[in-house]
Parts: sequence; structure tokens; C-alpha cells
Amino acid sequence: MKRLTLLALVLAAGAVSAATAPKADPEKGRQVATTVCASCHAADGNSGIAMYPKLSAQHPAYIYKQTLDIKDGKRTSGSSGVMKPMVAALSEQDIRNVAAYYAKQQPKSGEANPKDNVELGAKIYRGGLAEQKIPACMSCHGPAGAGMPAGGTEIVSYPRLGGQHKDYIVAQMKAYKAGQRKNNIMIDIAKRMSDDEVNAVANFIQGLR
Ligand code: HEC
Ligand code: HEC
Repeated sequence: MKRLTLLALVLAAGAVSAATAPKADPEKGRQVATTVCASCHAADGNSGIAMYPKLSAQHPAYIYKQTLDIKDGKRTSGSSGVMKPMVAALSEQDIRNVAAYYAKQQPKSGEANPKDNVELGAKIYRGGLAEQKIPACMSCHGPAGAGMPAGGTEIVSYPRLGGQHKDYIVAQMKAYKAGQRKNNIMIDIAKRMSDDEVNAVANFIQGLR
């Protein structure tokens, strides 16, 4: 009996939060994407320029958080400053909508350069380097780089990496290593990696699909 009451309470609480949680509208998000984001990230999120990360099929909670962090000056590393003024006027609902839109776009992978240490890259991605206590990237970012949802306040999801521009990946690893981009898990991993190892795994990720 007690258990039933508790279950009813939990269900009721769930229903309330689902009803009050703001809904994302990907169609409205398309407007924001084509008018604000497309010049850098492309309308389908498959940017062709390495400094602009691909956003297609990225987890919506991750896109939402990173966009807000850049807007609010919490993520300032690398070229974030280029984007900040472009998103300054957007509301949280605009960002929620555009995140839902990009999350639904078809991802396009790049190619790994076969001469650029792909074997080492694949090894690090799939198995890590035990002697340096570098975990397999796959364990959080998924075997094909699709990432996975999380649901914490800091870690809202393990971001999709598959097919991302190599140079962008390298730049993020440097930013984590230098502590310029904040995230304890990734700072700890990046600090254990040499430039050659970062280069190899980033090359592998660019071709991952
Ligand atoms: C003027 C170019 C520009 C515009 C316009 C722009 N961005 Fe960006 N964006 C960037 C750059 C450059 C970065 C990479 C920052 C870095 O070096 O860390 C970035 C990074 C991001 C990231 C982080 C991606 C990741 O994998 O961590 C997200 C999310 C993002 N942008 C979303 C958006 C959205 C949504 C819009 C439109 C509302 C937008 N951006 C408009 C240039 C732009
Ligand atoms: C224990 C889980 C975990 C492991 C293992 C892990 N990551 Fe991550 N990674 C994360 C989380 C969480 C984030 C989001 C961090 C943030 O919010 O800045 C992230 C973010 C990243 C980013 C930034 C993505 C973007 O779009 O800007 C890169 C690049 C990255 N990881 C590369 C790697 C590589 C390479 C490895 C393996 C050597 C690895 N990660 C292993 C959890 C992990």
C-alpha cells in the first residue's frame, strides 16, 4: 500500500515536470539556424571549415549548454569569442529550439588521413593507453563516436565526436590540457596525452562514423 502511494507520487511528480518543462520546437530552430548559425556552422550543421565544429546529430542538451556557456562567457577558450556576439540576443527558448533542430540533422563524416598514425589513433580511441592511465575514448563517446545522453548539471551528455574536424578536436584537447576549457574529466585525460597521441586520435575521430 505504502509502496503504491509512493509510486503514485513519483508518477504525479513526473507528469508535472514533463508538463512544465519547456518544449523545444525544431521548426522554429531551423529559422534560428539559417539566420544566425549557418554562416559558420552550415544550415545542416556539417560545417566545411575546421574552426567551426560540426553540430549535426550532436546531443541537444550538449548544444544547448555549450551555446549558453559561450553566450554567458563561461566558455571563452579558442575561437569562442567569434561566436559570442552572434548569439548574444538569443533567448533560452531560441537556443533550445536550435539545439533540437541541429540534433536532428544528418551527420557527415570526414576522412582520416591514412598516413597520419591511424593505428595509434584507433588504439587510443578503442582501448586507451593503460600505462599512461588514458581511458578508451569509446567508453564515454561511444564505439562509433555518437556519444550518449547523461543528465547531470555539468555533464549533460557525452558529446558526439564522430566525424568532427581533426583540427577542432586537437584545439579542444589543447584547451583542456591548458585548463582554458573547463571540464575535470577531459582536463585529466588531456594532461596525460602527448601532442602525437592527440594528433593520432583526432585524425581517427575525423573519419569515424
Ligand atoms: C561567427 C561564427 C559563428 C556563428 C554565427 C555561430 N557560431 Fe557556434 N561556434 C563558432 C566557433 C568558432 C566555435 C568553436 C569555439 C572554440 O574554438 O572552442 C563554435 C562553437 C559552437 C558550439 C560548441 C560545439 C562543441 O562541439 O562543443 C556550439 C554548440 C555552437 N557553436 C552552436 C552555435 C549555434 C546554435 C549558433 C547559432 C545560434 C552558432 N553556434 C553561431 C562560431 C560561430
Ligand atoms: C569518462 C568519460 C570520458 C572519456 C573516457 C573521454 N571523454 Fe571526452 N568528453 C567527456 C565529457 C563529459 C565531455 C564534455 C566536456 C565539456 O562539457 O566540456 C567530453 C568532451 C570531449 C571533447 C570536446 C568535444 C567538442 O565537441 O567540443 C573532445 C574533443 C573529447 N572529449 C575527446 C576525448 C578523447 C580523445 C578521449 C579519449 C582519449 C575522451 N574524450 C575520453 C567525457 C569523456
